Amino acid sequence: MTLFAKVSPAAVRKAAAFIRGGGTAVFPTETVYGLGADALNAKAVARIFEIKKRPRFDPLIVHVASIAQARTLARVSVGAEALMKRFWPGPLTLVLPKKRIVPDIVTAGLDTVALRMPDNAAALALIRAAGTPVAAPSANSFGSLSPTTAAHARDQLTDGPDIILDAGRARIGVESTVLTFKNGRWFILRHGGLPQEAVERATGELNAALKGGKRPVSPGQLAKHYSPRAALRLIGQARLKMRKGVRYGYLAFTSRPAAAVKTFRILSSTGNLGEAAANLFSHLHELDRAGVDVILAEPVPEKGLGRAIMDRLRRAAAAKKNRKIK
Ligand code: TXA
Ligand code: MG
Repeated sequence: MTLFAKVSPAAVRKAAAFIRGGGTAVFPTETVYGLGADALNAKAVARIFEIKKRPRFDPLIVHVASIAQARTLARVSVGAEALMKRFWPGPLTLVLPKKRIVPDIVTAGLDTVALRMPDNAAALALIRAAGTPVAAPSANSFGSLSPTTAAHARDQLTDGPDIILDAGRARIGVESTVLTFKNGRWFILRHGGLPQEAVERATGELNAALKGGKRPVSPGQLAKHYSPRAALRLIGQARLKMRKGVRYGYLAFTSRPAAAVKTFRILSSTGNLGEAAANLFSHLHELDRAGVDVILAEPVPEKGLGRAIMDRLRRAAAAKKNRKIK
């Protein structure tokens, strides 16, 4: 049985008790909802992989409530600490050399661990009350759309977590930006809620590093991530050919589609990329629920949060099922 509770001090205490006892809890963050367990309890973390049907080679992010707590899990360099001080709490995840205390299942056997301090009062209260760092991937089933509401998580995670905390819509709506440090440089492993421009402004050193060099890859960054149930096609320069008998949905950036599609959603009528990011997953969830076969998605400008949006749309478009519906 899964409890479903509006966020309150009592509900957070209850979720913390589940986590302390080796259970699992869905909790809000400013990016997307997370499915959390005690990061130091390998058995509890194994439940996360089961509930999500996530392959074990895909490592988890560990959520902390302070920089001091981060230090218990990883070696924090001067540069990493500067980034934490500048951007935590917030949508920035740092991949750092891990300490022995972190179980292998959390990091998929890597010698690094991904850490972040979420900018959400309930999430921070939960981590503090649990008295332990909280390992948490996004609270969706593996490969599917990320949850920006508690209901999204409830609908996807049918093999239930112990409790789902409902705090309304996630403010940012796309996952955190993931950075790693390699060969003396910082690299972006995943574009997310903290725009690249903001990271670059923070350190000139980073600025140079982000542009050059061979980009390392994150083990979990598979092409088929973030997919709706429907096939998704990014609208390119080529003329759109729509076929009879196929039910189309349309994800527009700023205005109603020119194409004759009845089921559509607009990401931001003012062209605001922050608003577009906040709406991205919930609009895709809604188009899915409307029962369309194919979602036609307009590209958005690749700057600011537009990079994270385009990354999610490209991955959804790369899913295998799209090749069947041509
Ligand atoms: O905003 C977020 O980051 C959300 C909320 C819940 O905090 N979490 C999230 O977790 O998106 P998840 O598991 O869906 O994505 C974690 C990403 C994956 O791409 C994974 O491969 C990468 O972080 N990652 C985790 N540990 C890593 C490591 N040690 N080295 C490289 N990449 C790592
Ligand atoms: Mg995810």
